Amino acid sequence: MSELQRQSEMLVESLVRAEVKDLHSYHVPGSSGLLKLDAMENPFSWPGHLQNAWFDKLKEIDANRYPDPSASGVNQRLRKLLNVDVLAARANTELSIMLGNGSDEIIQILAMTLASKERGILAPEPSFVMYQMIAKFVGIPYHGVELNEDFSLDLNAFLSSIRAYNPSLIFLAVPNNPTGNLFGVNEVKAIVEASKGLVVVDEAYMAFTGSDLLPLIAEYPNVVVMRTLSKVGLAGLRLGFLIGSTVWLNEFDKLRLPYNINVLTQASAELALDNYHVLSEQTESLRAARSELTAGLQAIDGLQVYESEANFVLVRCLQASAREVFTRMKELGVLIKCLDGGHPSLKNCLRLTVGKPQQNVQMLTALTASLVELSTRKSSV
Ligand SMILES: Cc1ncc(COP(=O)(O)O)c(C=O)c1O
Repeated sequence: MSELQRQSEMLVESLVRAEVKDLHSYHVPGSSGLLKLDAMENPFSWPGHLQNAWFDKLKEIDANRYPDPSASGVNQRLRKLLNVDVLAARANTELSIMLGNGSDEIIQILAMTLASKERGILAPEPSFVMYQMIAKFVGIPYHGVELNEDFSLDLNAFLSSIRAYNPSLIFLAVPNNPTGNLFGVNEVKAIVEASKGLVVVDEAYMAFTGSDLLPLIAEYPNVVVMRTLSKVGLAGLRLGFLIGSTVWLNEFDKLRLPYNINVLTQASAELALDNYHVLSEQTESLRAARSELTAGLQAIDGLQVYESEANFVLVRCLQASAREVFTRMKELGVLIKCLDGGHPSLKNCLRLTVGKPQQNVQMLTALTASLVELSTRKSSV
């Protein structure tokens, strides 16, 4: 080791926060040459005419200039698409939208604004891992409340955790990731009513379900709703958004870094929102593909399949090791997500993103082959 490196290590040892030293960087596995069904991306690209319009729009961009700091073009289109003005008028209140570099950035802004050493974050478990990770980044307490065995909400346990920890921030992903199920509106309302903190309803998978909890922002002073364009086809743009009372959003906006939505994202998202029916048609066909995939999975021996309202399906391997199945599927050219080890109740679980029908057939074939092969191998030793 060079002297320079040794000195850097000593400085890191003395200066970096202990919680950060304990963390690992977020690992994204390589997917080159693989059928990528691990990250809940929309597999469809845009039709030719839209791609052409997109390239024409990008040509006009002045990349030498900073972006519009409030991304007003995107903001206004979202307002219209979500009928925010109608909701605000109905409740006689002021509602706003704040944009983030993915919803991940919004979670971070919420945590930085609200949490303190005494009052932290509460979320069901298992759920989206970023809630806990960001609590660690920010250095605040995080409390997970176990879901029931079938991944439904244990409302009594949740309400008693609210009383015990008095969190300033509660995250409820509806549908939940990685389990795919919804939490009922009455359960969400019971949590909101019991909470003295802010409840963030994370509707990242909203496009794949009939559930829509946005009206809650016009009913309760302590609810905001978070959504993203990632799952409807624009994961690469990084655009998440928070909808809620202007009183809340003005505070969060103080911690949003200026120019967090770059010029390319703003221009692309404007065009996508003007043509939202194209994305809606794609998400509709993914819902149909999900039903077919679920039926295909249910026909496989040795799998427990969880019904999903999102663009992925959770399965549990009952007679094989999920890690071995994951590895074998990768060798067969299909990348999915292995959740084993992420949380005790996800033992032997895999998460399969819904792809195009033909991709789902390829995934089912690889999954079946892996399970058969592994069980044969097991019985011959
Ligand atoms: C429940 C949930 N919320 C938020 C996100 C993050 O979305 P984004 O890509 O907008 O950061 C994800 C991503 O997987 C998610 O599952």
